[in-house]
Amino acid sequence: ETVEWDPEQAGKGEYDHFMLKEINEQPVSLAQAIEGRIDPINGRIALSDFEPGSFADVDSVQFVACGTSYHAALYGSLTLNQAGVQSTALLANEYSVSAPPIDDDTLVVAVTQSGETADTLNALRRANAEGAHTLTVTNVVGSTAAREADDALFIRAGPEIGVAATKTFSSQAVMLTLLAQRITDDLRGEPPTDLESLLSALDAMPGAIDNLLDDSDAAEIARRYRDSESYFFIGRGLGYPVALEGALKFKEITYEHAEGFASGELKHGPLALVTPDTPVFAIFTGQEDEKTLKNAEEAQTRGAPVIAVCPEDHPAVAIADDHLEIPETDPDLAGLHANVQLQLVSYYAADLLDRPIDKPRNLAKSVTVE
Ligand code: AGP
Repeated sequence: ETVEWDPEQAGKGEYDHFMLKEINEQPVSLAQAIEGRIDPINGRIALSDFEPGSFADVDSVQFVACGTSYHAALYGSLTLNQAGVQSTALLANEYSVSAPPIDDDTLVVAVTQSGETADTLNALRRANAEGAHTLTVTNVVGSTAAREADDALFIRAGPEIGVAATKTFSSQAVMLTLLAQRITDDLRGEPPTDLESLLSALDAMPGAIDNLLDDSDAAEIARRYRDSESYFFIGRGLGYPVALEGALKFKEITYEHAEGFASGELKHGPLALVTPDTPVFAIFTGQEDEKTLKNAEEAQTRGAPVIAVCPEDHPAVAIADDHLEIPETDPDLAGLHANVQLQLVSYYAADLLDRPIDKPRNLAKSVTVE
């Protein structure tokens, strides 16, 4: 008797798709991203290659990336802005025509899961040529981007097979949160006094994501809204890159129309698209949530169902039509918990449509052309 052996199927273990396996690996991949990077003695972020003071001369930070990695880059850049550090996230494919001025006190951070994306490599090369200090944040040790930058930080997410980036996004965003904190400390020139909430939220994150994965209502929400015309995602502050990422993941694997907006932008145009057939996923991160709730209610008044992604006792729960729960956590990390719920919604919505989830049409895992 012979047993059929399909190595790809075997690699998926108990899961139907690599994407679902990789979503479920996040408690482990996040623990790996954080491990050894918090100094337990003095309660500071420790990045082994970067002694305290390494970033003291940086006067601005430019992140360059594409797609999902761009959303992680925007997350890192907004974190720096909120800490008072000059920073921008730029699409790597636009960088050759519209890079902001660079000098030798500019830190250019290339964010790329594969380390082989042509657009991102081009941006990195331009930054190197113009004399910036360059740093690559990647999952792949020995990748071109890791080798060509002055320095590299590895997110340690493990192999990601699904074309849709999931666990690498959350690990990139956590890595950039740590990096942002280290840069901020160096620029302030004094030990941080306000790190306790972030450090305890980082410590709790792998376990919290594990619970979220066990208790998620995402499959039910995907079923309830399966006949919709279009799917909108809104967020403010660090919820904004998560809204963009929620929509990218949704369109990439379901082939349905989805858009992410800054919550406050809805009323500047997109509200014209809102109908009872356009569910709005509203992400609440604890940063001006009352404004986001108002924006969500404006959509609801036009008939759109609102799905609030927020903690259980949040005021949005009473107003929204549906709820996806995230734990109470630090505002710097809340959006990353919300993102896991949105990854699951996309996955289940695509599964209901019977899409080839791990290999969406027209897309490749690593885009090596410009
Ligand atoms: C994510 O789901 C996409 N497949 C895509 O946007 C990807 O993030 C982008 O092509 C960048 O890839 P990189 O991280 O390997 O540079």
